[in-house]
Amino acid sequence: MCGIVGYTGNEQAAPVLLDGLDKLEYRGYDSAGIAVCDGEKIRITKARGRLKILRELTHDGRMLSGTCGIGHTRWATHGVPSNENAHPHFNEAGTIAVVHNGIIENYQKLRNMLTERGYAFASETDTEVVAHLLDYYYKGDPLQAVLKMMNRVEGSYALGIIFQDQPGKIYAVRKDSPLIAGTSRDGNLIASDVPAILKYTRDVYFIQNEEIVCMDAEGLEFFNIDGEPIWKEAVTIQWDVTAAEKAGYEHFMLKEIYEQPKAVLDTLNPRIRDGRVEIEELGMTEEEIRAVRKIFIVACGSAYHTGVVAKYVFEGLARIPTEVDLASEFRYRNPILDSETLVIVVSQSGETADTLAALREAKRRGVRVLGIVNVVGSSIAREADNVMYTWAGPEIAVATTKAYSTQLIAEYLLAIRFAQARGVVSQEETDEMLAELRRLPEHIEMLLGHKEKLQRFANRYIAARDVFFIGRGIDYAISLEGSLKLKEVSYIHSEAYAAGELKHGTISLIEEGTLVAAVLTQEDLYKKAVSNIVEVKTRGAFVLAVTNVGNTEVEKAADYVIYIPETYKYFTTSLAVIPLQLFAYYVAIGKGCDVDKPRNLAKSVTVE
Ligand code: M6R
Repeated sequence: MCGIVGYTGNEQAAPVLLDGLDKLEYRGYDSAGIAVCDGEKIRITKARGRLKILRELTHDGRMLSGTCGIGHTRWATHGVPSNENAHPHFNEAGTIAVVHNGIIENYQKLRNMLTERGYAFASETDTEVVAHLLDYYYKGDPLQAVLKMMNRVEGSYALGIIFQDQPGKIYAVRKDSPLIAGTSRDGNLIASDVPAILKYTRDVYFIQNEEIVCMDAEGLEFFNIDGEPIWKEAVTIQWDVTAAEKAGYEHFMLKEIYEQPKAVLDTLNPRIRDGRVEIEELGMTEEEIRAVRKIFIVACGSAYHTGVVAKYVFEGLARIPTEVDLASEFRYRNPILDSETLVIVVSQSGETADTLAALREAKRRGVRVLGIVNVVGSSIAREADNVMYTWAGPEIAVATTKAYSTQLIAEYLLAIRFAQARGVVSQEETDEMLAELRRLPEHIEMLLGHKEKLQRFANRYIAARDVFFIGRGIDYAISLEGSLKLKEVSYIHSEAYAAGELKHGTISLIEEGTLVAAVLTQEDLYKKAVSNIVEVKTRGAFVLAVTNVGNTEVEKAADYVIYIPETYKYFTTSLAVIPLQLFAYYVAIGKGCDVDKPRNLAKSVTVE
C-alpha cells in the first residue's frame, strides 16, 4: 500500500504534492518522491526514509519549480526501500514519469519482454515496467499509450503519469487500488485517498476500475477502457481531515478489519496459477521440499497464533511434523534442529527482537529459515534465507487484524505447496481448496456486514471482568487470538483454553453470567465441543458460540450464536476470527479505551 498524489494548476506543484504526501504517509513511509514538470523538463527528487527527508532535500518543495507534478510515498513491495526503488519512476529518456500504488503481478514477464527489446531497468520495482511500457507504446497520443499499457498489465494499480511533451497534463488510472480526482479553483488533483487533497478541495470524483482521468489546470476529462469519454459527478466530502485519514472509519483498527478482504486477496492472488500454488520466493526445489522432515514455526503474539493454526494445516495436509514455538522460548530451549528441518519465522513488522533472535539462532545452527513478513526490507526479511511477503499493507493499529489474516493465508499456501510437492494431495482436493481460498474475501466481506449485531452484543459486556474463549483443535488456535484481541484492546481479563482442558482446573472460575466464547468450526469435534458448552452452562456461564452455518444444534446449548459461512475445514480460522475481532473492537470502544494505541503496548516490539 502506497500513497499517490498529483497536482496541475496555477500554483507551484511541489509544495502541494508534499502537503498531500504528509496526509498519506500512513499508507507507507519507507521512501518518498516527487516529479515536477516546469513546462520543458520533468525533474524527479526522491529519498529513502520518511517524508521529512524529501522536504529537507527540496527545501519544502522550493527547489523544484513547475505547476504540474506527481508524488508518492512508498510501502515497499517489490524491491527493498532505497532511493532507486523509490517512486516516481522514469522511462529511460526521462520523459515519462510514473507513480504507482498496487502490485503488477505479471511484471517479471513484462520485464523480460522489455529487456529483450533493449530496455534497461534502474530499479527492482514492478512499477518500472509501466514507465517502459508507456514509452514503448507512446507515439504522441498519451491516452492510446495508457490504454495499451492497461491492456498488458495484470494486477492492481492506481497510477499517476506525466509526459514531458504534454506540459500541464496528468493522466491517472486505476484497477483495484483506490484513486480519486479533485477539482479546485486553483487547479486539479489526483490522490489515492481523500485526506491528501482536502486542504485544496472537497469536490472529488471517485475513479472506478479501469477508468482514466486526464486533467490540466483548466479541467478534467474521464474515459472508459475503450477510450470513450464518460461523464462523472463530483461528490462533496463532508468529513473532517482527521476522520478522512482513516477513510471515514473511527479508528485504524476498524479500518484495518475492513481491509481484510483486499489484503487476503492480494496475498493469495499472485501465488495461485493454473490450478497450483506457486511460491517463487520460497526458493526451494521439489526435492528440497520433499527433504524437509520437520517444520518449526516461530513467532510472537498473534503471529504465533497463526503458527498454532498452521501446525494443524501442515500436519493435516502435508503430513509434516510441525512444532510451534514462542520466539522468546525457542532460542533458549536448545531445540533439536538438523539439515532436514525448516524454520519458518512469522512477523508483521519484521523487527520483533525475539523473533529476529530466534531466526539468528536457527541460522547459526545451519538451518534454513523462511520468513513470512509484512514489512518489506525489514530485518527479518533481510536476514531470512527466503522471504514470503504478506501483502497486508501498513498496519497502524497496535492490535493486528489484517496482518494476522494474511499470515494465515501465507501458511495455508505453504502447506498446500508442500502437500503438492510431497504428492500427498490429489488435484481434485487441491482444486477444492483453491476454490475455497478464492472465496474467503467475499465470505469475510459478508461477515463484516454483521457489525451492528456484534456491536449490540459487545455493548452488553463492557463491564465484564473475565471472559473465556474455548475451542478444540484449530478452534483452540482461533480462541487464542480472540482472547488476545479482547484483552489487549479492552483491558478485560480473558483466557483461551482447549475446551477439553477446562474441567482440569479453570472451570472453577466460571460464575453466574461469566461470558464464554466457544468456537466450533470443526465438524468432527462438534459433539465434544457442545459437551464442553454444556459443562460451563451448567455453572452459570453465558455462552456465545461461533460455528458453521447449518450447525443449528448448537442453538440448544449456547445463548447466542454467530454463524460463519461453510469453507474448507482448515480455513475456518480466517472466518471465525472476524466476529471475534469486531467483538474486541466494540467492547474496547464501548469502554472508551484507546483502541489504536492500547496502554503499555507498542506496534513493534524491538526489545527482548
Ligand atoms: O510484528 P510481529 O508480527 O512480529 O509482532 C508480534 C506480536 O508482537 C504482535 O502480534 C502482537 O501480539 C499484537 N499486538 C497482537 O495484536
